[in-house]
Amino acid sequence: MPAITFDADTRTWLLTTPSTSYALRLEASNVLRHVHWGARLTLEQVVSLDGRPQPTERGFETVFEGSEELAVDGGLRYGVPSLQVRFADGVRAVEWEYLDHQIVVRPDGETLTIRMADRHYPLRIFLHYRVFTDSDVLDRWTTLAHEAGGSGDAAGSGPITLLRTDSATWALPRREDYRLRHAIGQWGAETQLVGGGVQVGETVFTSRRGVTSHHANPWVMVDAGDAGEEHGEVWGTALAWSGTWRVTVQRTAAGLVSVTSGFGHDGISWRLAEGESLDTPVCSGLYAADGFGGASRRWHDYVRNHVLPHGDEDRPIIYNSWEATGFDVNESNQKQLAALAASVGVELFVMDDGWFGARSSDHAGLGDWTVNTDRFPGDLEPLIEEVHRLGMRFGLWVEPEMVNPDSDLYRAHPDWVLHFPNRQRSEKRNQLVLNLARDDVADWAQDWLNRLVSKHEIDFIKWDMNRPFSEAGWPEHAQDQDLLWRRYVDNLYSIIDRLRADHPNLRIESCSGGGGRIDLGILARTDQVWTSDNTDALDRLRIQDGFSQIYPAAVMAAWVTDSPNYLTGREIPLRYRFHVAMAGVMAIGGNLTEWSAADLAEAAEHVAAYKQVRHTVQHGTQYRLRGPKDDGLTAVQYNSPDDAEVAVFAWVQSAHFGHAPAAVRLLGLRPEARYRDEDTGAVHHGAVLLQHGLPLDLPDGDYASSLTRLTEIH
Ligand code: DGJ
Repeated sequence: MPAITFDADTRTWLLTTPSTSYALRLEASNVLRHVHWGARLTLEQVVSLDGRPQPTERGFETVFEGSEELAVDGGLRYGVPSLQVRFADGVRAVEWEYLDHQIVVRPDGETLTIRMADRHYPLRIFLHYRVFTDSDVLDRWTTLAHEAGGSGDAAGSGPITLLRTDSATWALPRREDYRLRHAIGQWGAETQLVGGGVQVGETVFTSRRGVTSHHANPWVMVDAGDAGEEHGEVWGTALAWSGTWRVTVQRTAAGLVSVTSGFGHDGISWRLAEGESLDTPVCSGLYAADGFGGASRRWHDYVRNHVLPHGDEDRPIIYNSWEATGFDVNESNQKQLAALAASVGVELFVMDDGWFGARSSDHAGLGDWTVNTDRFPGDLEPLIEEVHRLGMRFGLWVEPEMVNPDSDLYRAHPDWVLHFPNRQRSEKRNQLVLNLARDDVADWAQDWLNRLVSKHEIDFIKWDMNRPFSEAGWPEHAQDQDLLWRRYVDNLYSIIDRLRADHPNLRIESCSGGGGRIDLGILARTDQVWTSDNTDALDRLRIQDGFSQIYPAAVMAAWVTDSPNYLTGREIPLRYRFHVAMAGVMAIGGNLTEWSAADLAEAAEHVAAYKQVRHTVQHGTQYRLRGPKDDGLTAVQYNSPDDAEVAVFAWVQSAHFGHAPAAVRLLGLRPEARYRDEDTGAVHHGAVLLQHGLPLDLPDGDYASSLTRLTEIH
């Protein structure tokens, strides 16, 4: 059955995914009305909805709000506009009419494009829908083109100002009630899961910082007030963009809920000159009938199969030098760390900040990307050769978008940073933001990155970005300075894309002071993200829980660091720290030169154990058995792609006498199968694990943790 079908009589489109349907209809009034987003319906069933009573205009009420496919600003519409334009003569309303539609069949699915045009002005609006044969996630985006097309064609009338250009409006079906779930945070406390009722009015999440931000992540989930981790209907949207953005959840007084999502923050505008067009980023949407866990699992599959460049690869076990040596990196201390890292089984050694220019602190040198030969007298080769000799790959930290005012680069090019005339240049971490929107700056970054990776045998880069924008001006582009908010990200993406194309074996980690740049846009061109600068294992459980709502463990870098933790001062046993990191892309970031022989031996055991479960964790199915709500038990299960291998992580912060946690009931097992515990040899019946849970082997005392590895017996 084709994924996209069309009923010409009622002008209804039906998009079909493996277990969901999405339908929309073009009404006689040229309104593109949302019809259905939920469980599978046939085209005939969807068309039958046409007879249903529609809201009627009464009093001050209008019929559009909360039910359109793209809520334009115009006519009797008073809700959140997804598309808001101002034509050269000052007219602001959009009046659109249908032109035609096109369905394109791809090897992995189908794409529908509905073409609309303004009735008078030369603005064309294309709504795109991409469905996949193997995913319930559907992608939407919008193209705006300044070209003739409307029946009252008024071409040549000057640039069109785009005041709001969202990728999509997502109208939800009518339910009794709604709840919202999303992730907020701050530096060191990213992806904190929060939720609550959807109030009548508008709930806005946004970034005005130039990056995706630590403070909100551009996804939301909405349920009908009754979903749980493993049951109930959940709708979600996620935006693929790494600059500023806005997501607005609107609930009308009449009870309709819709979500509009797009790039750019309020207050900026873009111009569309004649002949120009703009593609918004993709905003993806998902309906899942099996709760938040079911929704997350579908997002994870979608990210691995349709977003990541190498979603099928196992991510290596990394050692990163940052928490061990800070800015004080040199050939000798890095070789020492590399030897210890290799001895415990690390596969990729990453030297962090401090290897270039006058970068001995965060006060100077950023922008001067030449190796510091006081620290590395023979250039980087002796270290890289040693790392390779030890059997590891080599990675390097870079921060291409930034400059310290105390640098040769800034002294030579003070005009290269974001700035306005007559305004101060606010520093943060003693640095300014290079205006990557400028092609000369982007070319410069492309050039030195390419030379760096070509000259040395670099297998991996950690691409960092350590401050938000401020005074975001582009004086050389005075007529249209807001363009930088978009062009900056376009150039960032194209630098990374070209670097990857020129160096196909290079792998990249996205970092922005921890988790400031985590989104589906950056994941389409990187391999993993640095989740947070907070490496405290207890705090990480909450960060990882929020992260896992949309993003898979395969991209969630997690270091085991020293105790007490540098940020929280908390002391946590090594075993617990390892078990937390093993639930993602495990890495080590502690100062191994200060670890005891017993610590190193224990580390080697955990690294070996991780190698056993890595494929299951990174590519399998995740079940959040118990979230990190209190100081009691948190548990996460991963099943291998064929469900034959199972890894269960359990962590207890504090045990309270007389209040033992209830057994952890596993999910996703075959009741009739039996499972062997790979460490103890114990054999469990699948049905018993499902009904009565897994007996946990937790040590006494606070910060107890366990990893149980089960294999199905045939
Ligand atoms: C911020 C990153 O999140 C850290 O891991 C480290 O790379 C520092 N920057 C280096 O300056």
